[in-house]
Amino acid sequence: MNSADLGIRNKLMKLSVWKALQPLFSLQCVFAFDLALASELPFGTRPLPQGTTVSILQGLDDLEPASAALKFAAMPRSIIKRRLTRGDAVAVAFVGKELAAYTWVTFTEVWISEIRRTLVLREDEAVQFDTLVMPRWRGRGLQYGLTRPVLQNLAQREYRRTLAWVNLFNQRSMKNQIRQGKRRISTIISVPALNLVWPQNNPPDAPLILLSAEPEFI
Ligand SMILES: CC(C)(COP(=O)(O)OP(=O)(O)OC[C@H]1O[C@@H](n2cnc3c(N)ncnc32)[C@H](O)[C@@H]1OP(=O)(O)O)[C@@H](O)C(=O)NCCC(=O)NCCS
Repeated sequence: MNSADLGIRNKLMKLSVWKALQPLFSLQCVFAFDLALASELPFGTRPLPQGTTVSILQGLDDLEPASAALKFAAMPRSIIKRRLTRGDAVAVAFVGKELAAYTWVTFTEVWISEIRRTLVLREDEAVQFDTLVMPRWRGRGLQYGLTRPVLQNLAQREYRRTLAWVNLFNQRSMKNQIRQGKRRISTIISVPALNLVWPQNNPPDAPLILLSAEPEFI
């Protein structure tokens, strides 16, 4: 076995040890996107399903269309109402009349349940959370296709950067963060049962602000 093979084998062994410990540990990668680059994002590496449309809904005026769209994903109206009241936006992708994917964006703080911490955002930051591609539509490039217009919309509104967190073992989403040109800025190791959190490589210029208190509503 040559040294490259040995390196890969060691890496895989390390990953499988972490994976086995998953019920105890959480490994979340935090990605940042510099919104100045949003206009340069290419359409995507593969064409979206024919008839895909994306709309961005925000504010209580959009409660009815958002509830109608997200009922296909069984999201309770009370959660949608709370999020829209807080000022969150939701982007929904439809293929014809069928909900194919959605993603939420929030602007002040967000509860990261996997590590039991609140991430506090700066004024010019937004965070993308609760992203779902409906099972029937997975593997068709929708996560990228939905995120691109969201990033471009935020850039037009003069936000400077977006953040997102992804479980290290969610290979599909990890691939898409990189494909979208996002930069991994930190890996957060945590032991939720013991309320312990270690952010690794926390960027010194704009460190992540993590609080243990839960926000008023999640
Ligand atoms: C993660 C998720 C959003 C990816 O969405 P998506 O639009 O299907 O992503 P893509 O079509 O770009 O697929 C990403 C990669 O996973 C692969 N993939 C997607 N679905 C797959 C499937 N069912 N089986 C095997 N591979 C699959 C794709 O081939 C692609 O890899 P490639 O570029 O090497 O071909 C979606 O799987 C999902 O909603 N998962 C559950 C919720 C979740 O994890 N949300 C994200 C939290 S950060």
